[in-house]
Amino acid sequence: MLAGGNAPPDILRSQIQLTRELTACPFGVNVITLAPNYPEHLKLVCDLGCEFVVFAGGIPRKMRFSRSRPAGPGPFVSPPEPLAMSLIDRGADALMLEGSEAGGHIGPVALSVLIQQILFQVDHVPVFIAGGIATGRMMAHLLMMGAAGIQMGTRFVLSEECAAHSNFKEAFQTGEVADAVATPQFDSRLPVIPVRALKNEGPSSLGSSRWSF
Ligand SMILES: Cc1cc2nc3c(=O)[nH]c(=O)nc-3n(C[C@H](O)[C@H](O)[C@H](O)COP(=O)(O)O)c2cc1C
Repeated sequence: MLAGGNAPPDILRSQIQLTRELTACPFGVNVITLAPNYPEHLKLVCDLGCEFVVFAGGIPRKMRFSRSRPAGPGPFVSPPEPLAMSLIDRGADALMLEGSEAGGHIGPVALSVLIQQILFQVDHVPVFIAGGIATGRMMAHLLMMGAAGIQMGTRFVLSEECAAHSNFKEAFQTGEVADAVATPQFDSRLPVIPVRALKNEGPSSLGSSRWSF
């Protein structure tokens, strides 16, 4: 999976081309619907005929699906619960269920609930699972439960290939399980998307040197 993030479109274009040079295998391009460069990213993956398009960060409109259709078997989406069904109706070819156990931006629903509510109910599109998965054993269990595959994020940060700073990787290795906390939404007028991250010194302006929950 190639992350689009909010990369300048020219950079994303060159990364797609470079990835094609590095592998003959199919790969997906992840586009974030909230990113300022999203419209250009979407056009790019269509123009370049990317085989898989994985939407994240929001619900793509129907026209987005149909526009990306010529690109191949994608797209995937990252929905919370009942939206999954409407996304399939709208043309999603597969679903990625990401539980609130995940690192990074998270939804409000735990994987154990999503599995029962969606994985066990959906049998006409492949369903992929993400959130808190770090071992092959866990992957095997999820495959036996019906998942088409899994997605890992945090675990890959620790890989040699990941360009993250070594201090960042060390923090992941030395952190306690309970240190991976979700940021709260302080007020409904501030519609931030919660993030699961390691406790840190960041929010000193909130009057505390540590997050407290
Ligand atoms: C630092 C970080 C950045 C991420 N960026 C993206 C992203 O750009 N697009 C996306 O779809 N998911 C992103 N994710 C979510 C991962 O794709 C994956 O679903 C999630 O990390 C799975 O949970 P895990 O971290 O417990 O393995 C990110 C996760 C982390 C930890």
